[in-house]
Amino acid sequence: MISGLRSDAFVESPGSAARLTVRKAVMHDIAPILHLINSYAARGIMLARTEFEMSEAIRDFSVVTFDGQLLGCGALHFYSPTTAEIRSLAVHEHAKTKGVGRKLVEALVAEAEQYELDAVFAFTYVVDFFSRVGFHVVERGALPLKAWKDCVRCPKFQACDEVAVLQILRPDHWAEAEPQPWGPLMTSPTDELIQIPNLRLP
Ligand SMILES: CC(C)(COP(=O)(O)OP(=O)(O)OC[C@H]1O[C@@H](n2cnc3c(N)ncnc32)[C@H](O)[C@@H]1OP(=O)(O)O)[C@@H](O)C(=O)NCCC(=O)NCCS
Repeated sequence: MISGLRSDAFVESPGSAARLTVRKAVMHDIAPILHLINSYAARGIMLARTEFEMSEAIRDFSVVTFDGQLLGCGALHFYSPTTAEIRSLAVHEHAKTKGVGRKLVEALVAEAEQYELDAVFAFTYVVDFFSRVGFHVVERGALPLKAWKDCVRCPKFQACDEVAVLQILRPDHWAEAEPQPWGPLMTSPTDELIQIPNLRLP
């Protein structure tokens, strides 16, 4: 039973280790991932996903399962040769605060390290959670690629209230102040200036 999930369930022991698993997602995970993400999307907490989008992006995803039942998911989406975004991170209501989210982030960060990335970032409302798992808050302007790749298509572009958080994996390679290899800051592929929106307070 998921309700029987204990906070120390990831500690390796003969009873729990076999039942609680973090692994890369496969195709049969698409339906439960969609159900989880879109239940949060219906409350405005996450962006809704479609089956087409999930099929395209399934290799980005890792999942945590308990007795084969999906408890949580998260994706590592590459942005550049040096950076990736952690996104679509979600844990079922009944499994929250038991370390599932941390386990997912740890798995995604480990994957980023395998790919020799310099840093991973996220845009989030749960800043305290990301602080707990090793991220720090940065200016959104420090992540310009995100702005023209995704934000320009987002309905919240002009009133974005998500916070950018970053975890640097290879400090010796990462230089936030350096010009980015993909070109001038705030410039789109068509050379149109893109204004990074600031938080609009009521
Ligand atoms: C955010 C979310 C993924 C966290 O998952 P979780 O499994 O509950 O988190 P964990 O139990 O692994 O918590 C790890 C740490 O963060 C803390 N934490 C978890 N959620 C938190 C929150 N909402 N606010 C502050 N701290 C939080 C925990 O107390 C824990 O701290 P500790 O290890 O120092 O004791 C989950 O609440 C969720 O799915 N939320 C809805 C979807 C969402 O907002 N996703 C993020 C999109 S970027």
